[in-house]
Amino acid sequence: MGGEIKIISGSAHPALAKAICGHLGVELCPSTTVRFSNENLLVQIDENVREADVFVVQPSCPPVSEGIVELLMTVDALRHASARRITAVVPYFPYARSDKKDRPRISITARLMADLLETAGADRVLTMDLHSPQVQGFFRIPADQLQAAPILCDYLQAHRDLSNHVLVASDVGESKEIGAYANRLNLPIAVVDKRRDGDDENARATNLIGDVEGRIALIVDDEIASGGTLMEATRFVLDRGAREVQAACVHPVLSGKAVEKIESSPLRSLVVTDTLPLPSEKRIEKIHVESVAKLFAEAVKAIHTGSSVSRLFR
Ligand code: R5P
Repeated sequence: MGGEIKIISGSAHPALAKAICGHLGVELCPSTTVRFSNENLLVQIDENVREADVFVVQPSCPPVSEGIVELLMTVDALRHASARRITAVVPYFPYARSDKKDRPRISITARLMADLLETAGADRVLTMDLHSPQVQGFFRIPADQLQAAPILCDYLQAHRDLSNHVLVASDVGESKEIGAYANRLNLPIAVVDKRRDGDDENARATNLIGDVEGRIALIVDDEIASGGTLMEATRFVLDRGAREVQAACVHPVLSGKAVEKIESSPLRSLVVTDTLPLPSEKRIEKIHVESVAKLFAEAVKAIHTGSSVSRLFR
């Protein structure tokens, strides 16, 4: 692909966009978002992007709806500014949990988000650890999905003695994903059978498949939102005889009182990534953040030069 690489940040996570630029050795391409008193937005790209290979970094975080509209407007602005190719870099994809019609008359919103990005003019999408693999199939444009497992596993190997650990999937849905961690860390796994009633944020653990007795349970999940799942899994494995509980999770949504819950819980430590910004009031000692910026920079380079992205997982 010819054309210069340009990285643009929406309002969601400029720190990640700048870190990606740092690894690529490029400056952030300036853009401006104006919020009018009627709550309309205006997005303007502040330098020439004609024939450029442009990457717009915008994970989904509060204010979620405004962030989505800002991303769509940025892509549209770039299309009208004659960018040669536009890649939406969405490390945490909006509405990724809304991926099926599991009750009557609801929207499959993750699919809608994919359609909206394409309609706005995105040529490609670059994301990380979608809540479920089928979401990747919602895109008709190429969508590359990076994995945080190598980054989180490297951290865990370097900072924990893993000789007495057991990996715990906090629900059956996660049990397949946890394989990527089990293979890398060479650890046994256990699975918590979690049930949720409708929109209830208080997930209930009902059963444990596997053995945690006397071991350090390392709970792995793709995201922590309200913290309900993590807190319930922590309680459950301790009840089943785990000696200690630690956790690793890709997307630190940490909504509502999640951080307070973690702070006052028996959970010893939590490692997350920076796919989402973690404001200073949510940075507590128990939470460690590993950056995904280098991996995203490598993926940007691979997309730009037409080389393999999947090789980055090995
Ligand atoms: C659920 O299927 C996911 O893997 C997470 O466990 C869930 O999204 C976490 O949500 P919360 O923190 O609100 O329980």
